[in-house]
Amino acid sequence: MAGFYDQLAPLYHLIFQDWDNSIARQARQLTEIIRNEWGSGIETVLDVSCGIGTQAIGLSQRGFRVTASDLSSEEISRAKREASARNLDIAFSVCDMREAHRHYGRGYDLVISCDNSIPCLLSDDDILAALREMYACLRPGGGCLITVRDYDREERGKGIVKPHGARDVGDMRYVVFQVWDFDGDHYDLTMYFVEENRSSNSVQTHAMRSRYYAISPNKLLTLMEEAGFASVKRLDDGFYQPVLIGTKWS
Ligand SMILES: C[S@@+](CC[C@H](N)C(=O)[O-])C[C@H]1O[C@@H](n2cnc3c(N)ncnc32)[C@H](O)[C@@H]1O
Repeated sequence: MAGFYDQLAPLYHLIFQDWDNSIARQARQLTEIIRNEWGSGIETVLDVSCGIGTQAIGLSQRGFRVTASDLSSEEISRAKREASARNLDIAFSVCDMREAHRHYGRGYDLVISCDNSIPCLLSDDDILAALREMYACLRPGGGCLITVRDYDREERGKGIVKPHGARDVGDMRYVVFQVWDFDGDHYDLTMYFVEENRSSNSVQTHAMRSRYYAISPNKLLTLMEEAGFASVKRLDDGFYQPVLIGTKWS
């Protein structure tokens, strides 16, 4: 998994029409959910799968004190560069979310894992291990916020194409899409970036492969409860993916 995201790190922003806009929009929407669900007491945020920083950067810009990590060292290197270019003070490090508590200890107000990172873990046992570590990182009363694809609504089969779009950067055009091949509740994903240099008429394709677990949001909510979270629920309005939240009451 880390290898896939290491290769993706320099290209990741091209998945978005405009990455900075997405950073700002997601932060605004997540802040609204955080304030609605937990009030004004959330100051420290731990992002356990920050990638190149899509949510960590936006939440830091909104005034949260953000600590962030990811399994991919290349993504963390880029996240550090992106945060520093925006004059943000975010403590980044490489960490497997299944070891988050050992890495960070406890006391955070909110722990997040956004944009379908949890399904990178390929078994219920691995997901439960990550959720237990996230739970242990929180102070009593702290919250957990996870966003995932709704796999109950995704077509299953082979050769399923998921287009992201075409991005123009100077003379370059990037056409970005994924292809999925299901195998039971798992699927192999190939991410394609077709890079066309329109001044030299040359084309190069970057393709990288990984595997995901198409876990249903309901199953994930059950695992959150099993990890100890209370008041677990799914929110469908206010973000582009289902948002699953829970609170550590004890
Ligand atoms: C779809 S990306 C989302 C990244 C970021 N949240 C964003 O929206 O840009 C999924 C991320 O999960 C990370 N990841 C996968 N397995 C992980 C693990 N066991 N521990 C920490 N991060 C992991 C990947 O490296 C990748 O950065």
